[in-house]
Amino acid sequence: MGKKSKRQKSTPPPSQKIKDFPKADPPATAHPSDSTVTMTELVLPSHTNALGTIFGGVVMGWVDIAGAIAAQRYARSPVVTVSIDYMHFIVPIKIGYTVRIRANVTYAGKTSMETEILVDAENTFTGEVRRATSAYLTYVAIDEFGRPRRVPAFQANTAEEKRKLKAAEKRREQRLAISKLIAT
Ligand SMILES: CC(C)(COP(=O)(O)OP(=O)(O)OC[C@H]1O[C@@H](n2cnc3c(N)ncnc32)[C@H](O)[C@@H]1OP(=O)(O)O)[C@@H](O)C(=O)NCCC(=O)NCCS
Repeated sequence: MGKKSKRQKSTPPPSQKIKDFPKADPPATAHPSDSTVTMTELVLPSHTNALGTIFGGVVMGWVDIAGAIAAQRYARSPVVTVSIDYMHFIVPIKIGYTVRIRANVTYAGKTSMETEILVDAENTFTGEVRRATSAYLTYVAIDEFGRPRRVPAFQANTAEEKRKLKAAEKRREQRLAISKLIAT
């Protein structure tokens, strides 16, 4: 005791090999535009509560899928979700609405990637579109044994991409500090 304990590695020891693991190595570099995902979903009765508005968990599931596809496109590798930053649901999304989800990688470290996901609710009858929620999800690329695997170096070309990268680096620091607190 006394000494501060380091965050424990959570990767289990190599056990089962993942079947049909992609053979090619990931590229050395990648650009955020390599990762872009756009998804459109229609809100059906099975997605909604008794008030006819969508369950938060359904949106969270779509957000995770969009983020995972963006990270996989970027890394050309299987990924797992390692963290989800907070989500706020700003407007109710009603049955019959269309949900538009956009995802992009905003940062890549050695093995992890931050994705930004924007969710808009569209009333297709009136054309009104409103931001419903947004989130930052982090994914880790994994090798055939489920261990963290190197991802391509992040290429930020435009001023906007560089601004987003700086903001992502700050969020990463905060996120890792929170994760350390949770793990102890
Ligand atoms: C993701 C996982 C493989 C990482 O293993 P680990 O032993 O923690 O590996 P490391 O400590 O080397 O971290 C790997 C990367 O993830 C980052 N990371 C770890 N925990 C994180 C967190 N809570 N939030 C954001 N990034 C995190 C590290 O900073 C590191 O990034 P870098 O390589 O880009 O510098 C492991 O935690 C795991 O298998 N988690 C379960 C994932 C899962 O099953 N998800 C589905 C939902 S339950």
